[in-house]
Amino acid sequence: MTVKSAHRPIGVFDSGIGGLTVVKALRKILPYEEIVYFGDTARVPYGSKSPETITQFALQDAKFLLNRNVKMVIVACHSASSVALDELKRHFNLPIIGVIEPGAKAAVKATRNKRIGVIGTQATILSGAYERAIRRLCQDVEVIAKPTPLFVALVEEGWYDNKIALEVAKLYLSPLIKEQIDTLLLGCTHYPLLKRAIQKVFPNKIRIVDAGLETAYEAKEQLENLGLKNRHRKRPAIRFYLSDLTPNFSEIGRRFLGTSLEDVMRASLPE
Ligand code: DGL
Repeated sequence: MTVKSAHRPIGVFDSGIGGLTVVKALRKILPYEEIVYFGDTARVPYGSKSPETITQFALQDAKFLLNRNVKMVIVACHSASSVALDELKRHFNLPIIGVIEPGAKAAVKATRNKRIGVIGTQATILSGAYERAIRRLCQDVEVIAKPTPLFVALVEEGWYDNKIALEVAKLYLSPLIKEQIDTLLLGCTHYPLLKRAIQKVFPNKIRIVDAGLETAYEAKEQLENLGLKNRHRKRPAIRFYLSDLTPNFSEIGRRFLGTSLEDVMRASLPE
């Protein structure tokens, strides 16, 4: 790929709408990049599916973006990043960034007592991807990982800062409080919205790492290193493609993105 490709869009995909938390971070960190987003709303959730199925879906999602002439692919979905990133890199010849490495890097940097908690979907936690990434960076860190799948449904329902969210957070996170973690890695697209509720259940202030935000910083660094940063100084629109226009996508989307979704199209996936 050459500098001539710099004007091409960045492709971002997720199992559904949650990946818009990553798009929101990208808009902040790389305001002049055009973004093409693909959300697999017809087949969400990925987090409860097998690695084989998630990998097969992720390959189709990435191919869809490649057909839209993207210069880079960001795998915003933690479940897909956990199990399919290597396969994606083997298949496609362009820069592909997952959320795991950037999140792990930031967590290792943030911890003082070397006790890091990781929460995510079943697929993400069972894969052990975050533990491996953290250990590669620092061997003497204790990682306490816990699946917290109900958090996804709570956020989609809009219940991320109420009594129910707090109760669920208490139940899920009490083992991590006992383990005296000082840093918590949010290993799922939906969890940044629960930041406040999560912090409230910890007796001491902890460092909360938003892997999506770290991924946006990583994308910026890679684009700069590759000479692929867009030089145009106008704020381009985002193109959204969804595999199903579900009844509540625009309401949930606004929650994740902070603004309403314009330019949404229904997409059919390549075989
Ligand atoms: N986007 C998924 C993730 O970050 C959460 C929703 C799902 O299970 O598909 O793991």
